[in-house]
Amino acid sequence: MSKIILITGGAGFIGSHVVQLFVTKYPEYTIVNLDALTYAGNLENLKSVENAPNYLFEKADIQDEAALDRIFKKHKITDVIHLAAESHVDRSISDPLAFVKTNVFGTVNLLNAAKKYWTGELEKHLFYHVSTDEVYGSLHDGGFFLETTPYDPQSPYSASKAASDHFVRAYANTYKMKTVVSNCSNNYGPNHFPEKLIPLVINNIKNLKPLPVYGKGENVRDWLYVKDHARAIDTVFHKGVPGETYNIGGFNEWKNIDIVRLLCQKMDEKLGREPGTSEKLITFVQDRAGHDLRYAIDATKIQKELGWEPSLQFEEGIEITIDWYLQNEEWLSRVTSGAYQDYYKEHYGN
Ligand code: NAD
Ligand code: DAU
Repeated sequence: MSKIILITGGAGFIGSHVVQLFVTKYPEYTIVNLDALTYAGNLENLKSVENAPNYLFEKADIQDEAALDRIFKKHKITDVIHLAAESHVDRSISDPLAFVKTNVFGTVNLLNAAKKYWTGELEKHLFYHVSTDEVYGSLHDGGFFLETTPYDPQSPYSASKAASDHFVRAYANTYKMKTVVSNCSNNYGPNHFPEKLIPLVINNIKNLKPLPVYGKGENVRDWLYVKDHARAIDTVFHKGVPGETYNIGGFNEWKNIDIVRLLCQKMDEKLGREPGTSEKLITFVQDRAGHDLRYAIDATKIQKELGWEPSLQFEEGIEITIDWYLQNEEWLSRVTSGAYQDYYKEHYGN
């Protein structure tokens, strides 16, 4: 069946890979990318598909009820894949309300628009909410996050994502909307905004700038290549059981300091620098407030029930990622200078 899928946050890091995958893999679908183009939205991420006949862009804020109403009616949206969010933990510590507005209020607004537009045939439409492993809190004694792990968010970001997950499930229970939620671990790869650990460190090594490591660098994250997350989203969208939750992860835990050292070593090689040059840039800085110690996803359910698994080993993914940043200097310089924000005006005219 032909679908008209609203993908929110499609100009962001993960959203851009999801949009590219769906536009190219499913020419029979129409993909409507809704994005407010905040600092994190970059339409240059979508150059490869911007002229595809099955791709449309709508600049809109999920907090804007009238805009959502207009977009659902105009495009006759059949399904939603919701990625739009404020995504950076450090920003949530300095401005929590921005996270409540987009991640909580915006998500409820989007649920309302879908419910209103799909009323009478709710069972025919899917609302897929893309979420994070951070809703489960912080692991201290080994073990893994399962889909049944109780929520225990510790940062304003994760609290806002947890609230949005609860609203999605509440709409499924109360209004019988067909919904699915996935909770994924840390992504890395092309198009990652250089405020996040891996692209920030790559950019700073390139420019011989200090590499800020929070605390002692002992915190552990589970890393997944972004295109594998996009493939998982495709799998959950098409094969996931409505009402279910799927954890997505890389079975790939790293201490931050070890990742930073790996990046230093690989970039010294690639840039033809003396071994050890970049490690000298490592600077231990004040820890993030309330810094979660360890995240680790058990992704057995999606593997066993839906047949998804990561395609790339971390060493391979990190090579591809470093090479991408080194080969896409213009992307990086336009992001760091802010020039990427002119792309919409230049190409869409208003
Ligand atoms: P991102 O910050 O790179 O992109 C977010 C996108 O949402 C941007 O294009 C931005 O312009 C848009 N946006 C923000 N506020 C909006 C609003 N009010 N209305 C419309 N659009 C808005 O984020 P990301 O890292 O690609 O994450 C995407 C989703 O995946 C988020 O929901 C995040 O919580 C989740 N997630 C991220 C990771 C990760 O490692 N990055 C891991 C698991 C889950
Ligand atoms: O786990 C999934 C989450 O991963 C997503 O839901 C979030 O949207 C995404 O931003 C990411 O959150 P993290 O806080 O884990 O990612 P970040 O890249 O900001 O930090 C990764 C780790 O590195 C974390 O332990 C903090 C540390 N760090 C980060 C930065 C930016 C540093 O030591 N130095 C830094 O400069």
